[in-house]
Amino acid sequence: MPKHLLSIADLDLPALRALLDTASQMQDVQRREVKKVPTLRGRTIVNLFFEDSTRTRSSFEIAGKWLSADVINVSAKGSSTSKGESLRDTAQTIAAMGVDAIVIRHSASGAAHQVAGWVDAHIVNAGDGTHEHPTQALLDAYTMEHAFGGSVEGRHVAIVGDLTHSRVVRSNLLALAKLGARVTLVAPHTLMPSGIGEWAQTDGFALATDLDEVIASGPDALMMLRVQRERMSGGFFPTPREYTVHYGLTRDRLATAAAANADLVICHPGPMNRGLEIAPEAADAAQSRVLDQVAAGVAVRMSVLYHLLTTGGLEMTA
Ligand code: NCD
Repeated sequence: MPKHLLSIADLDLPALRALLDTASQMQDVQRREVKKVPTLRGRTIVNLFFEDSTRTRSSFEIAGKWLSADVINVSAKGSSTSKGESLRDTAQTIAAMGVDAIVIRHSASGAAHQVAGWVDAHIVNAGDGTHEHPTQALLDAYTMEHAFGGSVEGRHVAIVGDLTHSRVVRSNLLALAKLGARVTLVAPHTLMPSGIGEWAQTDGFALATDLDEVIASGPDALMMLRVQRERMSGGFFPTPREYTVHYGLTRDRLATAAAANADLVICHPGPMNRGLEIAPEAADAAQSRVLDQVAAGVAVRMSVLYHLLTTGGLEMTA
């Protein structure tokens, strides 16, 4: 296991497998009445978040606490960053207190890599700009494996929406390729990052602009991405209504997708724009795994913290 979790690219298949398998054991802890194991007693983890977050930050906090670590949350609002302190000074200040791990979310792509070069602590990338979000890809893979009853190998996963601004898609492509899934990315040309054509060829995924055609082919999973309006400076599509007409998982598309594949799984990393990229009927459908993803997020993050911070065995009793 590498010292940090910065990118899915740093994980070979056995490491990826180990993280997912341990997450299964962690999910057993999550289902207990007393959800606490002593594994990380005496360890300190800082969640350093420079961007808003609901599920990622709180699930890292819960994950650390259930493993008995001390977890401290530092957000940019209310920290010395708002007084002009640099990322390097902030990270080194926190590390100097003797923390074991820093979980970082930042709007700059590469921020987690940089911090890993400045401090000794273990660094976990909780989302860096439009680059990567490795624990999201792990929890997505975990959710799909469990929904499919074991493996994503040979399964067809369609990832739909704002590819340009999504760090989730980059991490997912790397993880799903390693696990042997077949991936199609679906988006309007305006939301495809430049160079994606060559990338698709080297990494072996398909590209499509017609969502209805992809849905008719009966994918096993539809992963809807949030339209990241906060990262958009110009007009990437004419109107929200037009986006929904062509790329939203509407009630009609849900019906077609479910008819084309009886075992359809719907995922969304959240937060959802209900009515834009996903209709409420799809978000709340029997096929929706959105809340399973959230639950898996805690188990996967427990697994990550465990693997990075211990070399010993997994103590599962309090
Ligand atoms: C994602 C993120 O922040 O990158 N959300 C998440 O972590 N659950 C995706 C998004 O913001 O759309």
